[in-house]
Amino acid sequence: MEFILVTQQARPHVALIQLNRPKELNALNLQLMAELRDALKELDQNEEVRAIVLTGNERAFAAGADIKQMAGKTAIDMLHIDQFSTWDQIKKTKKPLIAAVSGFALGGGCELAMTCDMIIASETAQFGQPEIKIGVMPGAGGTQRLTRALGKARAMEMVLTGKSISAREAEKHGLVNRVVPVELHLEEAFKLAGEIAQLSPVAVKLAKESVNRAFEAHLEEGLHFERKNFYLTFASEDQTEGMAAFVEKRQPVFKGR
Ligand code: CAA
Repeated sequence: MEFILVTQQARPHVALIQLNRPKELNALNLQLMAELRDALKELDQNEEVRAIVLTGNERAFAAGADIKQMAGKTAIDMLHIDQFSTWDQIKKTKKPLIAAVSGFALGGGCELAMTCDMIIASETAQFGQPEIKIGVMPGAGGTQRLTRALGKARAMEMVLTGKSISAREAEKHGLVNRVVPVELHLEEAFKLAGEIAQLSPVAVKLAKESVNRAFEAHLEEGLHFERKNFYLTFASEDQTEGMAAFVEKRQPVFKGR
């Protein structure tokens, strides 16, 4: 891996992926995104990993897709390269994925953070879709996810003006889970990931899938999906253990079976 750093057990059952093109503010070139896709796929299959934290550095989570790499391309080149197809793996990741964001989260960087399940932001984080300023528009989910998170009026203003919002504004409007001092943002993400990693991996996976359905399907279908997955947790030993532990007033031990 050239552009990302992967630590499989950064904390017990929690993996860390760090975007690592600091000089380019972690601009997301094709190779970086392919590496990210492969790393997520591998961690998703690793039974020792129960949650994943994705981060950049203090100055930048990511300043967007690599403009230099895209600059000379035609529409047909872009169709052939289909660069956002590598992004599908992020959405397909079954384990909880938490973005720890500091500094710039712009364009594809904002979209990458929003594709994660939760966002812990540092006080210095700024979120924006500045593509309009370089004559394009968001291409990796920005118009959809920002609109669902912030509502039409705010998303429209951000997408059409390219102006960013601060971490505090993002928190106020529900785009991020919480804002913490910059030196604590990664630790706070680990804390959240660690809390989830203690719970049943089976139930966590099904619950994540169900919450995502709220975004992706009509309510009726989402409710049906959720109910089916709830019933399905009863096929796991973790459900038996979790409920037995509650009744016996002890801590459960979850094994992912
Ligand atoms: N692509 C390629 N290189 C980038 C980049 C990007 N998105 N963002 C920053 N860089 C590079 C700069 O070119 C510069 O490299 P050099 O030193 O070789 O010139 C280096 O990173 C540092 O950047 P700056 O000198 O510009 O740093 P700054 O502090 O003055 O400004 C910034 C920071 C405001 C984030 C500015 O870099 C910027 O505006 N970046 C582009 C943001 C952007 O437009 N993102 C959207 C990209 S398109 C997209 O993402 C499409 C999509 O939907 C996926």
